[in-house]
Amino acid sequence: MTAAPVFDKGLANTIAAETQCSFIDGAKGILEYVGYDIDALARNASFEETVFLLWERRLPTRTELAELERSIRAEYDLPPAVWQMIREMPRTAHPMHMLRTVVSALGVHDPEADDNTVEANRRKSIRMLAKAPTIVANFDRHRKGKPFVKPDPSLGLAANFLQMLNGGRSTDAVARALDVCLVLHADHGLNASTFAARVTISTLSDMYSAITTAIGTLKGPLHGGANEEVMHMLNEIGSIGNVEPYIMGRLSRKDRIMGFGHRVYKAYDPRAGYLKTFAQRIAADTGNQGLYEMSTRIEEVMRREVAAKGIYPNVDFYSATTYHSIGIDLDLFTCMFAISRISGWTAHCMEQLETNRLIRPMAEYVGPHGQEWVAIGDRR
Ligand code: CMC
Repeated sequence: MTAAPVFDKGLANTIAAETQCSFIDGAKGILEYVGYDIDALARNASFEETVFLLWERRLPTRTELAELERSIRAEYDLPPAVWQMIREMPRTAHPMHMLRTVVSALGVHDPEADDNTVEANRRKSIRMLAKAPTIVANFDRHRKGKPFVKPDPSLGLAANFLQMLNGGRSTDAVARALDVCLVLHADHGLNASTFAARVTISTLSDMYSAITTAIGTLKGPLHGGANEEVMHMLNEIGSIGNVEPYIMGRLSRKDRIMGFGHRVYKAYDPRAGYLKTFAQRIAADTGNQGLYEMSTRIEEVMRREVAAKGIYPNVDFYSATTYHSIGIDLDLFTCMFAISRISGWTAHCMEQLETNRLIRPMAEYVGPHGQEWVAIGDRR
């Protein structure tokens, strides 16, 4: 016998899947990927190592990591038709609309798109993960009227992205700053976009459709779009002296402060802790100290005013300062989140298929019943 359905708005109290990818304890502020604490991963692991961990559910040996790196680098380049598609994109398009569209188009050019075997899904995961940085960096060049820069298979994913974006080699410190952000954003339980990806793959659709769905879901300001909003807010505040009146004004109008609060964490977001120290270092190295100081002042005011409600900085708050310091445009921030999260989305899709059951909740119907049909000419 099935249990009576319960209405749970926002699904906050519903467990809709089993996963071995990541564990979150929101009260204690713990996040683990496959049992490894996020802080240890951010300090020690490369993004590629994190990808291996999420896909294989164990850490790689040196040889296994080298093999994964090789297969990702071999897929950096895009099919000629996809380069052309980027060339034809409106320069004014929001990068998330562009990324969703071009990732979807990758499926059209992949003869394996509808092959849902484990091996084919792994190959498609590698392709999407490897190609997304090429798409984002070169769309940015296109909209700025700059020539494309082809990917460089001698570089890791973060350094390769920055080289395509800027047209030159970044320092190791800057590449590592991006690498750390990618590690921190890779997976996060059954967040909205991961849930969306799992729903799509549970219909036995395909990996490209699932990741396209997820990118569309990530785009919203209550999810991945928040880091962009944080940067808008920092620009609006403008100076450290303006922090207090700005924050107090917003709070008194019951407006949200972007980059604070979380549906799950009611303690300090564990992803924000190490990122804060990292943001400080990279801001100092790149002459963005003022931005970092403004951020810590916002945190102080928020701690005084709302920490009692369990509202602390989330991962987006200090990732905004970090991305700005390493020279990434504000409207690319959510794309950076997407590039990283492709690892988690694909891990969850492959996990879903291991023991698939169609995800299909119910709605509580609250509309009228028994209405009389009225001919179109008689309606008012
Ligand atoms: N600034 C000010 N007050 C807030 C904030 C905030 N950012 N977030 C929550 N609150 C208050 C809210 O006003 C409410 O107060 P009261 O009880 O007095 O009415 C209380 O906290 C509970 O709010 P809620 O809406 O029930 O909390 P939620 O769990 O539904 O919201 C959230 C979670 C992330 C949507 C929300 O905190 C928010 O809108 N934050 C800003 C957007 C943001 O930074 N999003 C990124 C999340 S982290 C990235 C990711 O993992 O996807």
